[in-house]
Amino acid sequence: MKVTVIGAGNVGATTAMRIAQMDVCREVVLVDVVPGRAAGLALDLNQSAPIERFRTRLTGTETYRATANSDVIVMTAGRPRAPGMSRLDLLLVNAAVVRDCVAQAAAQSPFAILIVVTNPLDEMTHLAWRTSGFDERRVMGMAGGLDSARLRWFLADLAGVAPPDVEAMTLGSHGETMVPLPGRATIEGTPATRIFDPATLAGVFEHTRAGGAEIVALLRTGSAYYAPASATAVMVRAILEDRRELHPVCCRLRGEFGIDGAFVGVPAVLSRRGVEEVRELDLEPGELAALREAAAAVRQKCAELEEALARG
Ligand code: NAI
Ligand code: 2OP
Repeated sequence: MKVTVIGAGNVGATTAMRIAQMDVCREVVLVDVVPGRAAGLALDLNQSAPIERFRTRLTGTETYRATANSDVIVMTAGRPRAPGMSRLDLLLVNAAVVRDCVAQAAAQSPFAILIVVTNPLDEMTHLAWRTSGFDERRVMGMAGGLDSARLRWFLADLAGVAPPDVEAMTLGSHGETMVPLPGRATIEGTPATRIFDPATLAGVFEHTRAGGAEIVALLRTGSAYYAPASATAVMVRAILEDRRELHPVCCRLRGEFGIDGAFVGVPAVLSRRGVEEVRELDLEPGELAALREAAAAVRQKCAELEEALARG
């Protein structure tokens, strides 16, 4: 098994580290446009292997030849949001990077499964799918795993319980139109709606929606990467180990939830084939409406992106 991680920045390097430490593949290839960065980080990570006791070998490169025949490609290259940058600015800057990197990686590994992390997530996943020419079930984006983990942590913190004892899921897009599912949140097995009043829960959902921006403001340069890397690595593991696990994943819907042809975050079973199945959970009417709104917003942004790219 071989995994390529494109972009050896904060998210890419940390994702490579987490995958290596899980020991779920023979090789992780890190690719970065900055000369020496990927090679240097790969060497550093390899030298942690005797201590961390993993067997995965890391390779770093600026070109794509060494990525050939990867089973999974993780796309993290691109800029994080900076102060004063509009969402559309980031959309166009990262679109160029995604098109370039995905075209090269897909040519080397035509049967790979592609996980996109680069922001804006939902639109970049759409673009990666278009660029790769891959079957839609082999292209997905990571965001729901991160947003759900943030929600779980905030709930655990508020309830004073251990984070693993909290279950919760968010769907929709990575941003304003994130859709939390209050009815599915549990704290040590008890529904969160029985523990917290609606106003408190609404506050936690808002905190989660703004969770990325909160970290950007504290860091001043760059954005979150430890939790994003963890959320990405568990998706890689689910695919490589054919786990058939349910994850919140950004994928292209074909009529599920009444949405056709848009990438948006939904519960999906991950296997060696990629998105094995989208699970149509029984959503509350308000949640379903919010999910459809999120899909419509992504579709609109993707249309704007396609127009901008066509104009050059
Ligand atoms: P970073 O700035 O630390 O790393 C980006 C890396 O991409 C740099 O090493 C850069 O040299 C490399 N790069 C740029 N153009 C490239 C190209 N053409 N080919 C190969 N490498 C190239 O940024 P960070 O923090 O790693 O974030 C990466 C992306 O992931 C950003 O767009 C960020 O917004 C996004 N992100 C998405 C999350 C999600 O939930 N989907 C969570 C966290 C970050
Ligand atoms: C986050 O939510 C930047 O999308 C990234 O932290």
